[in-house]
Amino acid sequence: MKLIFLGPPGAGKGSLAVRVVDLLGVPQISTGEILRSAVAAQTPLGIKAKAIMDAGELVDDGTIIELVKERLEQPDAQKGYILDGFPRTIPQAKALAEFSAVDKVVNFDVPDNILLERLGGRRVCRMCNFNFHAVSLKPKVEGVCDHCGGEVYIRDDDMPEAIQKRLEVYRAKTEPLISFYREQGVVVDITAQNTVDEVVELFKKVMGL
Ligand code: AP5
Repeated sequence: MKLIFLGPPGAGKGSLAVRVVDLLGVPQISTGEILRSAVAAQTPLGIKAKAIMDAGELVDDGTIIELVKERLEQPDAQKGYILDGFPRTIPQAKALAEFSAVDKVVNFDVPDNILLERLGGRRVCRMCNFNFHAVSLKPKVEGVCDHCGGEVYIRDDDMPEAIQKRLEVYRAKTEPLISFYREQGVVVDITAQNTVDEVVELFKKVMGL
């Protein structure tokens, strides 16, 4: 199954994706995670992307489209994928349509006050990328990942000004994709303001799994 997870920052796209990849038997492809790995490894892409990401802006379409196109050519993506964080602009969506046909677009609906609470408290494992939360999902030992023992840190773009900018960019550039995909009849809406367990159950229901 070829899926796009579409929703604002903090909607829980990554959290749901890790919970359903085994069920669907497809990889999660997060452009944000690919970029953060490139930043950590200080590759030319990472060096170019870091300041853009920290400011809450989008990396240019050409770079991201090429990156996703190459990733979708890998053997593990041949039977499907969850695209988490791509496409984020109409040009990205049009480019994707030229190299892959998606089955469904899962549109995450979460009120802004909940998004702010989630992003402000997010803590991430540097090694396995698991998302914790400072209040609702703390690691058992502070600063240490329960799953792999990696360091748990705060993302540079989870600072208040960057969060605000990311929400603005989402409304201006990414939200129009909902209508774009609705016109193609592939959108399923998911109310994602409840707990992760409840969101997983709702996802299974709307997807008929
Ligand atoms: P990216 O990493 O894609 O960030 P994002 O879209 O802003 O999404 P987030 O990762 O912030 O949120 P999420 O919806 O995955 O929520 P999560 O599950 O983590 O992109 C980062 C940057 O990279 C961009 O700003 C841009 O610069 C660049 N970039 C990436 N893709 C690009 C593209 N296509 N084009 C151009 N530039 C691109 O959850 C958040 C928190 O909430 C966690 O703490 C979690 O534990 C908690 N939580 C989640 N669900 C629940 C729940 N149901 N109940 C309670 N808590 C929950």
